Amino acid sequence: MEPNKIANGVIWITGLPASGKTTLALELKNRLIIHDLDVEILDGDIVRSKNSQDLGFSVKDREENIRRAAIMAKRIIKKNKIVVAAFITPTAKTRKIARDIIHPDKFFEVYLSTPLSVCESRDPKQLYKRARMGLIKEFTGISARYEVPIEPDISINTDSLSVGDAADLILRQILS
Ligand code: ADX
Repeated sequence: MEPNKIANGVIWITGLPASGKTTLALELKNRLIIHDLDVEILDGDIVRSKNSQDLGFSVKDREENIRRAAIMAKRIIKKNKIVVAAFITPTAKTRKIARDIIHPDKFFEVYLSTPLSVCESRDPKQLYKRARMGLIKEFTGISARYEVPIEPDISINTDSLSVGDAADLILRQILS
């Protein structure tokens, strides 16, 4: 994404459950607001509870979930806002769906490379634990695949970088 396109672009954060997507999205929003930019967050948990209630976590359902989220993001950026999207977006195909719907020039991909062991040790919602017990099927990282992005715009390991430093790194790229 061209730096000057951020005013109506999407920062799309992909990564494993508990990799820090929502925390980073909130930090980015707070910082972008300081720059007088209009920002909206689209978060997987929230979108799923409102617009994707009919969907589960099969490959097809995740593709549909991301398709809907990308359409929402596109509508929002048309109003000259920035969208920060936080979705697992686990496969190259789901990320391509989002990128193509939004437009490649307006899509800045942030990959949270936080290792699975770290995400699992955080486990704020006890989902990894339940997935290991077999109580949640098709859980990303345990029983459903996460394909590492090949060419993200930026990769960040939230285990070795604070959320503030991560946000700084991203904003330096998109606001410069
Ligand atoms: S995505 O794969 O379609 O991009 P999305 O980001 O919308 O996923 O939703 C992920 C959230 O759904 C997680 O934060 C977690 O709270 C919840 N969840 C419930 N079941 C699963 C599962 N099987 N795999 C991953 N996340 C799950």
